[in-house]
Amino acid sequence: MSRLSLVILGASGDLTKRLLMPSLFRLHRLGLIPDLNIIGYSIDKWDRDAFLKHIHDSLAEFIADFKETEWTAFSEHLDFVSGTLEADALRALESKLTPSALFYLALPPTLFGQAAQAIGEAGLSEENGDDWRRILIEKPFGTDLESAKVLREQVHSHWDEAQVYRIDHFLGKEATQNLMIFRFANRVLAPVWNAEHIEQVQITYAETLGVENRAVYYDHSGAMRDMLQNHLVQLLTLTAIEPLGRWDGEILRDHKVEVLKSVRPTDDMNANDWAVRGQYCAGMVEGETAVDYCNEPGIPMDTNTETFAALRIEIDNWRWKGVPFYLRSGKRLANNYAEIAVQFKAPAGALPGGIEVDNNWLVFRLAPTMGMDMHMTAKLPGMHLNTHGITLTAPYTQPGQYEVSAYEQLLIDALHGERAHFLRFDEVEWAWRIIDPALKAWQKGMPDLYKAGTQGPDTQSRIMRNGHQWRSLF
Ligand code: BG6
Repeated sequence: MSRLSLVILGASGDLTKRLLMPSLFRLHRLGLIPDLNIIGYSIDKWDRDAFLKHIHDSLAEFIADFKETEWTAFSEHLDFVSGTLEADALRALESKLTPSALFYLALPPTLFGQAAQAIGEAGLSEENGDDWRRILIEKPFGTDLESAKVLREQVHSHWDEAQVYRIDHFLGKEATQNLMIFRFANRVLAPVWNAEHIEQVQITYAETLGVENRAVYYDHSGAMRDMLQNHLVQLLTLTAIEPLGRWDGEILRDHKVEVLKSVRPTDDMNANDWAVRGQYCAGMVEGETAVDYCNEPGIPMDTNTETFAALRIEIDNWRWKGVPFYLRSGKRLANNYAEIAVQFKAPAGALPGGIEVDNNWLVFRLAPTMGMDMHMTAKLPGMHLNTHGITLTAPYTQPGQYEVSAYEQLLIDALHGERAHFLRFDEVEWAWRIIDPALKAWQKGMPDLYKAGTQGPDTQSRIMRNGHQWRSLF
């Protein structure tokens, strides 16, 4: 690879400190970015030394086996420019850029449009021959369908769709990328992956964390925009997607859009039927007292932002008709736990009457550790013909295997021009179409309260059908 530049706009922010720089440091350690210049850009009036000190101290905090010798080698790749999001200020970057360059908008979402336009106005988005310019935009892309369309226009005023990399970091997670492989590469699963054999799918992303220091962002976003519209909908598409005829990023994204287009249109008039929102109030989480969401620093007392959201989604294609997909995510819940759980139908009349048969569950665990569990029914050891549930468990990685982090994967993909794991605009658009009616219905009224450290609001079971129940988070 010839020399490349990565410009991080928002270089003094939390994302840069917690995720981007640790990922770049690890990639450098692996020898995967020997020719990358990393240029921090921020409104802070720092010089290069101040930036280096900030990054050094955060890496020492976030990298478990941080070594000064590795830092010295890594720091030679770092540079810094202070400036605003105006074209004139951004021109200061020009002399530092290599012909091919990637701009990473690690900025508050409200600044994405302005930044994309200003970089373009500064003439930095223009490509020459084989040299490329790319822009990487964090989520959420817009706050609803209309604002997403406006943002697309702002971005497209200077950038072609092929230059735009919309990140959903869940697509870089190992456990997410395993979904399609595991489904399609295993003969025991491929033939039964449909409505004839599958009863329901539950996708849960539960966190014990509260809003941390992200009050302004989170209170404007809420659980639905922060987690469901992007991360959980993406997990749904990859669980439901049809096999690809050829490995190609565009075909993959076409197939994902097909799934979203097959989702039964949602309606704000009956949102209570398929969507639930909750907000945490004081309770104990992991042995610590958590305050009411509305008493968190920076959150207005009268907020009606949801910290928990759950949805039932129906996919009306031949493969999934009649199989509910339940999605939920929340802050300050009982546990840090994330999974995609697929329940199979119980076999009819397989054992003599009266002997209990549990439905099989295949569980893809995403957090806190990655792995797969198959819950099955076996004979209960003993004289009598009784059954019990057993679990076949596999960790995702074996000792000695390197677990690539999502940001490491996606930074390398973007530098290599691999677009498969980035969102195309139509994916974003169709995801908003599903979510928007709930957001519209939730403009008024209050979310259902739930105690911090619990499973979420009791009302979440309202959207379940066919006697289904949420899986426990304990
Ligand atoms: C982010 C959300 O996109 O994903 C956070 O903004 C959430 O609220 C996070 O905590 C979860 O992702 P991960 O990779 O930390 O599990």
